Amino acid sequence: MDSYPVTITIDGPAASGKTTVGLMLARHIDYLFLDTGCMYRAVTLAALERGVSVEDEIGITHLTRRLEMDILPAGVESDGRHYTVLLNGADVTWALRGAEVDVNVSQVSTYAGVRADLVRRQRAIGERGRVVMVGRDIGTVVMPSATLKLYVTASKEERARRRWKELEGRFRDASYEQILAEIERRDQIDGNREVAPMRPASDAIIIDTTNRTPDEVIQDILALEPFQPAAQN
Ligand code: CDP
Repeated sequence: MDSYPVTITIDGPAASGKTTVGLMLARHIDYLFLDTGCMYRAVTLAALERGVSVEDEIGITHLTRRLEMDILPAGVESDGRHYTVLLNGADVTWALRGAEVDVNVSQVSTYAGVRADLVRRQRAIGERGRVVMVGRDIGTVVMPSATLKLYVTASKEERARRRWKELEGRFRDASYEQILAEIERRDQIDGNREVAPMRPASDAIIIDTTNRTPDEVIQDILALEPFQPAAQN
């Protein structure tokens, strides 16, 4: 049991299923789950709340360094959250999913100083081990020596449909077409930025979740060699 890969990285584009799969996998093997996307979202929300322009790289970098950010297990909350995010002590878990954050987060994520600060925080958690860490650059930059790297993807239409279902009726009223356009725009920025662009690590296993249920995907992952009894000696 203890000889599963110490750190498991899951990268992939927006709404590819990496959070669902990462959470299920972490629960199954009793690992910590860390969604690094929520950290970039938290910086973006803080900038919006404080009136720091998302174009102001220096201002946002300073803000990031001063931010007190805590990510805690969901606890007793039963509003569908997977974890709780505190920003300078305030619960911002749902605010991170707002439209304004969605629109601006990829711009904020291009800034080298922001990334350096968040990567440092992510590594501090990753180095403790027994963690499933999810994002865009975890296998390539944050934890390049991780023993199991997954890259979870799906067609952009399927990803837009999933995100639309996720947001439907919760607190946002965006159409499928708007969500698809937003996903394409974010893919474009995330995949082409200079610092840590989104891409599979050369040793990542690619998992396409199009037309597959989360359970099927988990079964595929658990069938991989590192999870077989023979690999755990
Ligand atoms: O949930 P969704 O896939 O829509 O996005 P997310 O994982 O919450 O990430 C939001 C944004 O943060 C991404 O579009 C990236 O711009 C950025 N991000 C990043 O640059 N590096 C990471 N390791 C994680 C997220």
